[in-house]
Amino acid sequence: MSKLIVTGGQRLAGRVRAGGRKNSALAILPATLLSDGPSVIENLPDIQDVQVYFDILRSLGVRVETRPANGGEAPRGVIDPSGLVWRVPSDELAKRLRASYYLLGVLLARYGRAEVPFPGGCDIGSRPIDQHIKGFTALGAKVTVEHGVIKAEARRLVGAPVYLDVVSVGATINIMLAATRAEGTTVIENAAKEPHVVDLANYLNAAGAQVKGAGTDIIKITGVTGLKGVTHSLIPDEIEAATYMIAAAATCGDVIVENVIPKHLEAVSAKLQETGTTVEENGDALRVVGNGRPRPVTVKTLPYPGFPTDAQQQMTAFLSVASGTSIISETIFEGRFKHVDELKRMGTNITVEGRTAIVQGVEKLTGAAVRATDLRAGAALVIAGLMARGETEISEIEHIDRGYERAVEKLKSIGASLERVP
Ligand code: EPZ
Repeated sequence: MSKLIVTGGQRLAGRVRAGGRKNSALAILPATLLSDGPSVIENLPDIQDVQVYFDILRSLGVRVETRPANGGEAPRGVIDPSGLVWRVPSDELAKRLRASYYLLGVLLARYGRAEVPFPGGCDIGSRPIDQHIKGFTALGAKVTVEHGVIKAEARRLVGAPVYLDVVSVGATINIMLAATRAEGTTVIENAAKEPHVVDLANYLNAAGAQVKGAGTDIIKITGVTGLKGVTHSLIPDEIEAATYMIAAAATCGDVIVENVIPKHLEAVSAKLQETGTTVEENGDALRVVGNGRPRPVTVKTLPYPGFPTDAQQQMTAFLSVASGTSIISETIFEGRFKHVDELKRMGTNITVEGRTAIVQGVEKLTGAAVRATDLRAGAALVIAGLMARGETEISEIEHIDRGYERAVEKLKSIGASLERVP
């Protein structure tokens, strides 16, 4: 278990480049198993979760070759599913991340049956999978849960309409994956519109699938018999970018975040501007200039294109020093305020009532020993540490390594003072 020691007070300045989208990689890597030939996935983020997914794929007989990042090139992976064998992924691997459950849709599509241990992932709420099961059942599968393993089987997968009771990114993706090789047309209504749902649809269509409407709340998938391997470059990670934008604002810095799609960050940019932060769009880069103590704002997390839940914790840290009281409503996950107890150790004044946090801005934070409870909580604590007077020691930073590529290196490159200690 390693720790981060963050020394506050540095203004961040310079350029930082967003890597490939974590949650797109974690959907497209399993999707490559739907194809008969090898796929090349470019712009992969250099993060733990991708390495874990590689291990999962290898455990299923899939050949994975990777070229690590070199020079300006991002890492890429060549995934060859020709050696794929049906088997149950190990509990140990499946529990390492949430996205292991996408193997349900993929193995169901390829073999008509799938058995996948319950997934892991950030502890931010109950995270049920009833909508995934609703979708698979609509396609003709019988789904049971026994001894912590989700089992799905269908003699034939037949396209069908599925209305999602909640906007679920995971269920939208899992049903899309299963539907690509079902007979006939599947219509997912109330579908998630996140950018990486579109990225996955683009990959699948390039491989020969017929997915229409991704990015809207109605996605139509017409099943096809076979898919071919393709080369696909992942979209940039808008949540990584949002994290650096908020860190720049929080340190009264001046940072250019490169390799972004500004449209994917509209809600974050607008909210930062409301706090008095300057955000300038310049092609595939956003320049963020902090202008002193933020004004208090109201934040309500919503499915895309609303304010992303994955940037809520970072925003809460920033607003903890606002010149008034902010209200944060977390409408997506009921347990995504675990960072608040840790922030309180640094002098914040935050009250959590159910899914709402009332953040009364204080003058200054002071460094303290804190614990990363999940991926984005870890990011929030780094931001708080950068703002605080003195040193902040953050433990359990394995959570950060899961989803942020070379976080220490990238932060240091824009002036942060932090060290990783064993
Ligand atoms: C994905 O999680 C992301 N993870 C999360 O990012 C992200 O916060 C979330 O989408 C929302 O954008 C990955 O892509 C690996 P959901 P997922 O299904 O798919 C409820 C990060 O920080 N729900 O959209 O699990 C659920 O409880 C991670 O990178 C059901 O009720 O999220 C939640 O309240 C954290 N039944 C809401 O829907 C279901 O069957 C949204 O969940 C499925 C979900």
